[in-house]
Amino acid sequence: MFVVLLGPPGAGKGTQAQRLTTSTGLLHLSTGDMFRENVREGTELGVLAQTYMDRGELVPDEVTIKMLLERIARPDAAEGTMFDGFPRNIVQATALDEALRARGDLINHALLIAVSDEELVARLGGRWLCRSCGAVYHERNDPPIKEGICDKCQGELYQRDDDSPDVVRTRLEKMKPPADLIEHYREAHVLSEIDGERALDSVTADLLEALR
Ligand code: AP5
Repeated sequence: MFVVLLGPPGAGKGTQAQRLTTSTGLLHLSTGDMFRENVREGTELGVLAQTYMDRGELVPDEVTIKMLLERIARPDAAEGTMFDGFPRNIVQATALDEALRARGDLINHALLIAVSDEELVARLGGRWLCRSCGAVYHERNDPPIKEGICDKCQGELYQRDDDSPDVVRTRLEKMKPPADLIEHYREAHVLSEIDGERALDSVTADLLEALR
């Protein structure tokens, strides 16, 4: 099963992908996490990606598509994958469709998580992430037991540079799923729209229901 998670920044794609992949066994692939890993390691790709991420803009398609296609060619992505943050536009969607089609696979589900701008700003401003395992928290909605420490692995929690108010404003302008991308999946009869502005467990339940 190959699933794409669509939604604006802060909709809960990463949080829900972690929950859904635990219960479905799918591989979780986040292009944002892949870029952040490259930034941490100081690779050439990381240096390039950071200039775009710092401004709240998309990394160029050719770079992102190449990275993603190389990753899905690895054996652990053969059985099923949940794509989080990819595709962001029709060029990326077409590249993914073609790569999957070439090996006899296709996107089975596109799950669109909808959340209002006001709520997105509040979520991104209060987000904390674990440096070690990537677990996602929110200081008000989903706090860790001990402030600054990950419940799962005791790692240190941090806030992303691109969650600063200025960058969040740009991300909300530029990063929402475009209409033609949503239409692409609607026409393929794989699109489900989920109200993401509810309790975490209710959103997870609806997403799981859509996958069934
Ligand atoms: P990426 O990391 O993908 O960022 P994003 O799309 O902006 O999404 P976020 O990670 O900010 O939000 P999310 O939807 O995962 O929300 P989360 O679960 O954390 O990309 C980063 C950058 O990399 C991009 O800006 C771009 O430069 C580049 N990039 C990545 N992919 C690319 C691509 N395909 N092409 C080109 N460039 C690309 O939740 C947010 C907060 O809300 C958390 O604190 C969480 O606890 C809380 N929360 C979640 N759900 C709920 C709920 N139901 N109720 C209350 N709180 C909730």
